[in-house]
Order: sequence, then structure tokens, then C-alpha cells
Amino acid sequence: MTGNQTPQASPKASLKQYCRQEAETAKLAKGFAASLERFITQNPDAHLNISLEGDLGAGKTTFARYLIQSMGYEGKVKSPTYTLCEPYSINKTKQHNQIEFFTVHHFDLYRMHDPLEWQEAGFVEHFDVPGFCLIEWPEKAEGTLPAFDIQIQLSAGVNEYERSITINALSEQSRTVVEDTQATQ
Ligand SMILES: Nc1ncnc2c1ncn2[C@@H]1O[C@H](COP(=O)(O)OP(=O)(O)OP(=O)(O)O)[C@@H](O)[C@H]1O
Ligand SMILES: [Mg+2]
Repeated sequence: MTGNQTPQASPKASLKQYCRQEAETAKLAKGFAASLERFITQNPDAHLNISLEGDLGAGKTTFARYLIQSMGYEGKVKSPTYTLCEPYSINKTKQHNQIEFFTVHHFDLYRMHDPLEWQEAGFVEHFDVPGFCLIEWPEKAEGTLPAFDIQIQLSAGVNEYERSITINALSEQSRTVVEDTQATQ
């Protein structure tokens, strides 16, 4: 499997916002969640890989938590620092009395000792189920992860006034998600 951690070409769509208050991070995560849900409804078999990049405390887990909860998940979204991966089942639509769902896998690879540990743990199968993966500290996998569709860069800046979040679409299929998020902000 080849990896693609850093975009070689310029992103196909990009959005940057300053999120000085946590409420602004919550609002952006909510808008991004709505765009993702629209994409998943239109492409029920698709899988998106989404990286969450930034220093310790940059707000990666906070963004993931608001994202997952604004998709209707009512339980606790805890940091996967020790488990490496936490799965979430999100209800999509109710059709013919059957509840359809998609899966979110939230990873934090910070504590991996070896870049291939994620494969040895059997996580490979999570990368093609309908839904998406959110991956904190993808750089710990040293380029062994499947290519990313969306890169989210978070920065706490040197002071709270510079906290920002940039969302880059790296694949053609993710372009509409980022453009849609941009249009609704
Ligand atoms: N505008 C903001 N957006 C997001 N988080 C904020 C903001 N302002 C303050 N915070 C706080 O910053 C902290 C960010 O921590 P978080 O665990 O999300 O970071 P992280 O990037 O996941 O760190 P790690 O690399 O350790 O996993 C939280 O305590 C959060 O409440
Ligand atoms: Mg975290």
C-alpha cells in the first residue's frame, strides 16, 4: 500500500478559518459534518480518508469530537490515544423500517512504536468500509497509510488569536465536500 501524507500537487479545493473561540471550531466542524453527510448520502459506498494534522494540543481531537457529535452520535467521543482507534456507527436514514448507518474510525497514532503497527493491529480493513477515517498523527505511520482525500491542518498559533483550521481537498471525490463546506460557512 502506498501512502500520501503530504500533498505533492496543490489542493483541489481549500478553506482556511481562524477559530479563536472553541465555538468557532465547533461551527466549522458542524458545517464540515453536514457537507460530509451530504456526500455520503449521494455516494453510499464511498470511503474518505481524512488526516488531522497539527502539534500537541492543536485541537485535533476537539475537532473530531464536534464532527462526530454533530452527525448525531450521542455518546462520549474520547481521545483514541491509548486504544489507537475508536469506531463510531452513525445512523444515516431510516428506510423501510431499516436504519442505515455508516462507520467512522477515529485514530490517534501518536503512541505507535513502529510505523506498521496499524497494519499488524488489523486496521487495514477500516480503510474501505463506507464512511470515513479520521487520523491524528498520520506522520507516525511514515507514509504507509492509504492516500488521504482530505487534509485538515490545525494550528494553535503563538497565541489564541492565531488558532486556525485549514481544510484541503486532495482527491477529486473530496473536492465537493470542501467546496460545499466553504459555501455554507
Ligand atoms: N478555538 C479552539 N478550538 C479547539 N480547541 C480549543 C480552542 N480553544 C481552546 N481549545 C482547547 O485546546 C485543547 C485542544 O486539545 P485537543 O486534545 O483537541 O488537541 P489535540 O490536537 O488532539 O492534541 P494531541 O496531539 O495531544 O492529541 C482542548 O482543551 C480545547 O478545549
Ligand atoms: Mg488528540
